[in-house]
Amino acid sequence: MNLSCAGVVAALLLATMLRADAPLDVESRVNALVARMTLDEKIGQMSQSTGMRSPLAERLKQEIRAGRWGSFLNAGSPADRAEAQRIALHESRLGIPLLFGRDVIHGYKTVFPIPLGQAAAWDPELVEAAAREAAREAWAEGIRWTFAPMSDIARDPRWGRVAEGLGEDPYLAGKLVAAMVRGFQGESLEAQGSIAACAKHFAGYGAAEGGRDYNSAWIPEVLLREVYLPPFRAARDAGVASFMTAFNTLNGVPATSNRFLLRDILRGEWKYDGLVVSDYNAVMEMIAHGVARDGSDAAREAVNAGVDMEMVSTAYHDHLKALVASGAVPLAEIDEAVRDILRLKFRLGLFDQPVAAPREVEPGAQSLALAERAAAESAVLLKDDGVLPLADAVRTVAIIGPLADSPEDQMGTWAMDGQPQYVETPLAAFRKLLGSGRVLYARGLKNSRDTSHEGFAEAVEAARRADAALVFVGEERILSGEARSRAYLDLPGAQEALVDAIHATGKPMVVTILAGRPLTFHRVAAEAGAVLYCFHPGTMGGPAIAKLLLGREAPSGRLPITFPRTVGQVPIYYAHLNTGRPPLASELGIPAGNPVHPEGYTSKYIDVDFTPEYPFGFGLAYTKFDYSNLRLSAPVLEGGGRITVSAEIANRGSRAGTETVQLYIRDLVASVAQPVRKLRGFERVALKAGETRTVSFTLSAADLAFYDEHVRLVTQPGRFYVWIAPNAAEGVRGEFELR
Ligand code: BGC
Repeated sequence: MNLSCAGVVAALLLATMLRADAPLDVESRVNALVARMTLDEKIGQMSQSTGMRSPLAERLKQEIRAGRWGSFLNAGSPADRAEAQRIALHESRLGIPLLFGRDVIHGYKTVFPIPLGQAAAWDPELVEAAAREAAREAWAEGIRWTFAPMSDIARDPRWGRVAEGLGEDPYLAGKLVAAMVRGFQGESLEAQGSIAACAKHFAGYGAAEGGRDYNSAWIPEVLLREVYLPPFRAARDAGVASFMTAFNTLNGVPATSNRFLLRDILRGEWKYDGLVVSDYNAVMEMIAHGVARDGSDAAREAVNAGVDMEMVSTAYHDHLKALVASGAVPLAEIDEAVRDILRLKFRLGLFDQPVAAPREVEPGAQSLALAERAAAESAVLLKDDGVLPLADAVRTVAIIGPLADSPEDQMGTWAMDGQPQYVETPLAAFRKLLGSGRVLYARGLKNSRDTSHEGFAEAVEAARRADAALVFVGEERILSGEARSRAYLDLPGAQEALVDAIHATGKPMVVTILAGRPLTFHRVAAEAGAVLYCFHPGTMGGPAIAKLLLGREAPSGRLPITFPRTVGQVPIYYAHLNTGRPPLASELGIPAGNPVHPEGYTSKYIDVDFTPEYPFGFGLAYTKFDYSNLRLSAPVLEGGGRITVSAEIANRGSRAGTETVQLYIRDLVASVAQPVRKLRGFERVALKAGETRTVSFTLSAADLAFYDEHVRLVTQPGRFYVWIAPNAAEGVRGEFELR
């Protein structure tokens, strides 16, 4: 066989390999393709750009033909994406498809509650369904990759991105992260309506010092493995298609060049073969971190640590060729990265599917209904002295406040594709449900930061004329999310004063707070007859809230994060250690005239209670649940066995309700001090009025494992407490021994 003949055979072989019906597996197709690629084409695959504007520029089309970009993010219209994909598939040398990524975080055209709100539903099935719906809408517009779920644990409400996370607890967040991955990715990545998910930001981003976004994280390895890594591991176990590195340094080393995280843990221990993308510009930010001299250094560090794709900055484009030539970056590393990228493109079916005709989607009845259910389930009733649900005698309501009719704000932080014209606000919903004649409205303040009292008189007048005042305060969407850290957690602007003014009318007052984080609002809660907390609830927040307040739905949300009394208590979280001097229950409050508590030298504050305002897991209902009769299947759990813990939950009220029953454990003596409680299970239980149900959980030794002082995952024999509980501060307790 002469040389040109061999070339023809190889080309034919390749063509067969790339065909959908070829009997070859993904790995063989990937390898065949990598073998044909030039270094420039490889670097192109490793580069992701935001630079796609409508209409597609000739220059960009040329770059796509030349294979300069492997992926675009947050770019183009559906028509642009279809055209760009057509060019990549049919006019580039190797016909490698583009991968379109976008921040589809809590919905797409239909916006669901922010992730922190979804977490408040404690309902993996709901979270999965919402992600599924978001994927379906995004897929239809040519998106095949989302940058979610954010799997960062955060215990600091100052950090604006607490909005995008799933709360403070690794167990709860892990379950929800896995649900989100399943929802986005569906049964198979190549199926219609499936998009690749991305576990971000690996790792430690949520531990930003001072709650200031992008700030350094110092996390000892035991804590990293106990608290910060488990949700990422859950994403990996759910088959997440990609990981994104974090902006921050972790223990001094940028996450984006962190071999310990990316090589030792992710690729090594977790055997992860998916795609790793940097965060936005994070490769070049290694210069500002002070670990890279220049772009070349940064590119070398990132590639050698295992970052397959560079988002936005162009250090790979600018330097990888020279770095390979000099031997500073082995070609094998480049090939490895390209393989990860192509593998995902094959798994998504991008090589085999025809470019779909572009279309624009609108929220449909099904997605809006799901959005309403999600908003209803994620609302947390924090106080009710009997004013809720609103009685029939309440004929006229005064709707007051800057968040009562603010479509953009109620959609929350990541809603760039959200359609404000579909949003139903609380005001609109009340008008629809009660009829406009029964609804008075006064905004009171222009927005949540407004400090002017100009609108107060009108608001007070509305409250006076109504049978009840429904006040909607909180945070505009721009106050939470990325780069939106706050040093004060109070209601911004003059909102507290507005609540004071309405309170002074003496009318029954319900305060609904719509926000992107836990806020501190002690006085407001004291003045209000009831407080409903809604992390930005999305498109259908209005009807969900209105139906809850009117008693047509029952509140069932539970806090996925501890609410502090004051920002000075932060970080505050339920799974803390006991300390050598735990405060006593009797040390609550500060005795009048004595600034220093007589009981003395314990771990507390002298100017505020040591307890949170509302504990993790907390939430009320329109009924009352009683916990009793905790039972264990045995007093001893033998190493390889299981133990069943059960308790009776009774609905003692006159209305049906859904309780989220929580299972906590405490390891009483271990070689490394263990948290006072750790969540190990939960279940939503719907109970009719008067109904009692036995709820059971099983525990095995694996549920009791922890990282010891040598960072080994171990179990140690000894005594354990176990609670079945309505939240992290209450419950019925039992005890068993692990042998
Ligand atoms: C954020 C990521 C996001 C990316 C792309 C970054 O600034 O940290 O979470 O996915 O931008 O928009």
